[in-house]
Amino acid sequence: MYNSKIVGAGHYVPEKIVTNKDLEKLMDTSDEWIRERSGIEERRYIEFGKDTTANMGTKSAKIALERAGLTADDVDFIVFATLSPDYYFPGPGVIVQHELGCKRTIGALDVRNQCSGFVYALSVADQFIKTGMYKTILVIGSEVQSNGLDLTTRGRAVSVLFGDGAGAVVMQRTEDNNKGILSTHMHSQGEFAEALCVKSPGNFKETKFYEDMHIDYDYSTCLMDGQLVFKNAIVRFSEVIMEALQANGYTADDLDMFVPHQANLRITQFVQRKLQLPDEKVYSNIQRFGNTTAATIPIILSELWEKKGIKEDDIFVLAAFGSGFTWASALIKW
Ligand code: ACO
Repeated sequence: MYNSKIVGAGHYVPEKIVTNKDLEKLMDTSDEWIRERSGIEERRYIEFGKDTTANMGTKSAKIALERAGLTADDVDFIVFATLSPDYYFPGPGVIVQHELGCKRTIGALDVRNQCSGFVYALSVADQFIKTGMYKTILVIGSEVQSNGLDLTTRGRAVSVLFGDGAGAVVMQRTEDNNKGILSTHMHSQGEFAEALCVKSPGNFKETKFYEDMHIDYDYSTCLMDGQLVFKNAIVRFSEVIMEALQANGYTADDLDMFVPHQANLRITQFVQRKLQLPDEKVYSNIQRFGNTTAATIPIILSELWEKKGIKEDDIFVLAAFGSGFTWASALIKW
């Protein structure tokens, strides 16, 4: 058995910055309400016709490959996590295979675990590398949320939280079993599926897709029981981080960096207090990008890569919670 390690990280966010003040012009909200409840100051929205979920994934993957000193032809497999694909089907993984110009017809797998999607995708890649099946895997998280948000007062409880963006990592085999992804941990609790979901298009009711689309507001927009999500998130984040630490004989004191899914700054701060981590060991960029769902964690990894914020032997925990409910963690030794 091998271990897998991250050998490159890249990200791409659209140029268009949408501040809380910009949202005040569209709906009955305020900069103060959004900052206080979520920590968000601004987010990015795509320019329609320029960026899509798939092509932002490709752009971030190209950067990650370049930083790894690899090319598209080195990639054996693609794992793509998103809740906002370009098409209902096929998923965006195949589009990346094409846009990267891969000469080989490598496999492309799509993961649908929303906010936990990147950690789930990383775990899938880790297993393929561990068994020796693939040597080099691209793992991508990318989202275009803006196209699905109701930017009127009716949709404000959800729409102020989300933004667009993408991140990617390249994973490769290492023969050092004490390095790389040390373990991954995944959970779900489907009884809460409807606490955070978009129902259409779906087969949960008899109506034809083409009859349902664009007419039934409650089915086509994101439904979220915000307080239920919050209460579950703070418990599950802490649990799944402790699970990862204990599985490897570590404690929170051993952590060099906590990379949380960027759901809400208040959730991150709650978990930080629980683990008694100093500010410099917790990464937050929700202030600048909002919640970019599957893209939040790889965007952070790429920002740290750029800032040379990752050192040999650093211990990182990645953790996420979201729709499903699903939650997951990964412990990494660089
Ligand atoms: N601007 C102004 N007022 C608003 C807005 C807004 N954008 N949205 C809702 N309000 C109003 C509500 O209508 C309500 O008004 P009322 O008291 O007159 O009825 C009031 O603000 C309070 O609403 P609550 O929903 O109770 O506000 P809460 O303090 O729970 O904060 C929030 C809402 C931020 C969504 C919070 O519940 C939360 O953080 N939940 C976690 C959900 C989350 O992080 N989701 C992200 C996606 S999931 C994930 O990534 C894990």
